[in-house]
Amino acid sequence: MGNASSPQQTWSQRFEAALHPAIARFNASIDFDIELIEFDITGSQAHARMLAKTGIISAAEGEQLVKGLEQVRQEYRAGQFNPGIDEEDVHFAVERRLTELVGDVGKKLHTARSRNDQVGTDTRLYLRHQIGQLRQQIREFQSVLLDQATQHIETLIPGYTHLQRAQPLSLAHHLLAYVEMTQRDWERLGDVYKRVDISPLGSGALAGTTFPIDRHYAAELLGFSRVYENSLDGVSDRDFAIEFACAASLIMVHLSRLAEEVILWASEEFRFVTLKDSCATGSSIMPQKKNPDVPELVRGKTGRVFGHLQALLVLMKGLPLAYNKDLQEDKEALFDTVKTVQGCLEAMTILMREGLEFRTERLNQAVNEDFSNATDVADYLAAKGVPFREAYNLVGKVVKTSLAAGKLLKDLTLDEWKQIHPAFEVDIYEAIAPRRVVAARNSFGGTGFDQVRQALERARSRLKQDA
Ligand code: ARG
Repeated sequence: MGNASSPQQTWSQRFEAALHPAIARFNASIDFDIELIEFDITGSQAHARMLAKTGIISAAEGEQLVKGLEQVRQEYRAGQFNPGIDEEDVHFAVERRLTELVGDVGKKLHTARSRNDQVGTDTRLYLRHQIGQLRQQIREFQSVLLDQATQHIETLIPGYTHLQRAQPLSLAHHLLAYVEMTQRDWERLGDVYKRVDISPLGSGALAGTTFPIDRHYAAELLGFSRVYENSLDGVSDRDFAIEFACAASLIMVHLSRLAEEVILWASEEFRFVTLKDSCATGSSIMPQKKNPDVPELVRGKTGRVFGHLQALLVLMKGLPLAYNKDLQEDKEALFDTVKTVQGCLEAMTILMREGLEFRTERLNQAVNEDFSNATDVADYLAAKGVPFREAYNLVGKVVKTSLAAGKLLKDLTLDEWKQIHPAFEVDIYEAIAPRRVVAARNSFGGTGFDQVRQALERARSRLKQDA
């Protein structure tokens, strides 16, 4: 879009010389804050309506501004309005284009407002929208996990502590752990939302305004549930952005842990899953390879989200009240956080839905070839009155001799069992069968199949309720 005015004309008559071109570029945020344009327009429309309602401008002028802003929005959507570097930022760009369209009345839009409360409003509107998107994406991800879990209630998988075989699990139980983690993410985002949902509009540059504005009315138009109590806090608070980056970081922690597991599971060493061609890549030199790029990228991208959280914290720690230009630096961190988390959620949802197949035979077989039923032998004796610690020591010895003999617990004869302790009966074989070992852990929240079925039910109804 042609633009005759130069940026310096934005400033008052106090300025005589133009900005050095390199400094203009350095100062400008239009390259990235264009992301806010629709929210900027919406915020300005509410501001214009408020100005008209309070009689600060006439009703007709208010109408003109609202319509003109809508036209800027349509031009932008149609690709006809592409503000460039000479615009400094999105706020100036919109105001200038508006004035080109509606004439002098456009110059009234900025009455009783500053870019400081304006940018704060835009950022909150943006984040409210993105939090809504993210929560929906988490719901989709959870429902994919639930579908997989439903199919794999009776599929067994080795459970680990210290990445050493510990006790066998229902695969559904394992997957449901991620449903719980992401449930907290979903809730946390809802909690952060409460603090994003506060309007700073009308805080002015820092001290409020001499005009008889109605902050509550403008906030209501924008769907904010509260307004900032204090104008200085209103223009300089970025707690909500930090809280969001923290919630986003935790989402990434959870996605990255699952990513790491998928990477392990897909390795030749584990062979628990097969990656489908749609979600794996090959090597340019080693023809046999199928690489888990998707989970690796998710794991890798987690670092940059953590980095943004750190950047925001450090950005804020030394800022005197109120607005400082440093605050312009919050945007790229926020935008990239949103984009990265959304991209990772989408990719992991596809991966878990259709990108991998659990090798159920291999999984069921894996739990048959280890000592992960050793606790159950100790439990068996303990249930027959042998003090648990004593039973534990006895079984430790059995494991040692079995390992030396190249045997598994299920290979011991009844005589051998009885030599260890007379309390062993023939039902020991049943007691240490992996399926039974899993089923028996029927305590609330445990991996027993009945528990897992109930947990699945609870998770499903939670999904429905909140939808
Ligand atoms: N582009 C600026 C930012 O993102 C807008 C606010 C500028 N305010 C100011 N007093 N220079 O923070």
